[in-house]
Amino acid sequence: SSRIPSRTPARRDLAQAPLLVAARGGRPSRLPVWFMRQAGRSLPEYRALREGVPMLKSCFDPEMLAEITLQPVRRHGVDAAILYSDIVVPLYAAGVDIDIVPGTGPVVASPVRTAQDVAALPPLHPEQVSAVADGVRLLVDRLGETPLIGFAGAPFTLASYLIEGGPSRTFEHTKALMHSEPDLWHALAGKLADLALAFLRAQLDAGVDAVQLFDSWAGALSLREYREYVLPHSAKVFSGIEDYDVPRIHFGVGTGELLTAMRDAGADVVGVDWRIPLDEAVRRLTAAGEPAPAVQGNLDPALLGAPWPVIEAEVRRIAAEGRVAAGHIFNLGHGVPPGTDPAVLTRVVELVHELEP
Ligand code: CP3
Repeated sequence: SSRIPSRTPARRDLAQAPLLVAARGGRPSRLPVWFMRQAGRSLPEYRALREGVPMLKSCFDPEMLAEITLQPVRRHGVDAAILYSDIVVPLYAAGVDIDIVPGTGPVVASPVRTAQDVAALPPLHPEQVSAVADGVRLLVDRLGETPLIGFAGAPFTLASYLIEGGPSRTFEHTKALMHSEPDLWHALAGKLADLALAFLRAQLDAGVDAVQLFDSWAGALSLREYREYVLPHSAKVFSGIEDYDVPRIHFGVGTGELLTAMRDAGADVVGVDWRIPLDEAVRRLTAAGEPAPAVQGNLDPALLGAPWPVIEAEVRRIAAEGRVAAGHIFNLGHGVPPGTDPAVLTRVVELVHELEP
């Protein structure tokens, strides 16, 4: 489209954007808030736009991905946009036979389990995600003073879909491969780190203001497994973007035992799910005398369906517990459930903005 800026627009002055100030451990003018999965099925305007368009097709349409990214910013007044895309987009772009099945999630045509499978995994060339970069440029142009968060799936979470062939609760094939064929595991995770890195660098070159690495399922691992099999690969992703001066957020579900290791991988902001309070997360993160990092979280998404007084009390508790962190970005402990009433999300944003940062 001729309306896509051909070069990355000059970086907006976001020095005072609450999300970026909090991520760097400064004092923001207000407590920043955004929601994982804020773009998506909870919004009628999203369902209308996506009608008849497959998920992975929508992710390669710059105008559509930009519009879907903007929808929750307009509606809720959140302090960040998160790029509408998916963790499997770079795999698909590189030529892996993968699809997103509505109601299920990513499904791989032939699971990756042998040395031949790993060797056949293609690298990602930036031009294969040029449509995503075009969408980012449109967004940077249209977002004004709201920062744009780019993201990628972390090597472990990506590997789990490839090895299992689809979503899993037990990750049995993944863990078996890790322990029985560590060299093959490291070869696969190393390739996925390169893929995630190439995807993030394409987004950063186009102008995203922060990045989040989603290791959604890392909580299935022991700390020993995480440090040995996963941390080096996620660290490679973070260190590969060190030349960009943007905050790095690292998130997983059920990762209370992994928080320090996930920080050690190279994160400025550690995502916390609802299972431990933010002040406890900060205690764990500073136990060895390290400076307190910024944290992100951690309202239980299941409570978005509860009566408002329940939600209000939880929001106030979380904001109070987050004050012991170097910085706090208010969020859910995981993604917005599809059936959430969007008016509740707007009300949460209004309440968070009334609270002392
Ligand atoms: O608003 C946002 O957060 C930005 C968009 C976003 C999507 N996927 C869009 C999406 C982001 C950040 C993701 C990341 C993602 N994708 C993760 C990590 C985050 C997490 O939830 O832990 C994971 C594990 C995936 C894989 C994936 N893609 C799943 C499990 C699903 C849900 C399947 C379903 O239908 O229940 C998807 C599909 C998906 N990704 C949708 C959206 C809006 C729903 C597709 C639809 O509307 O039909």
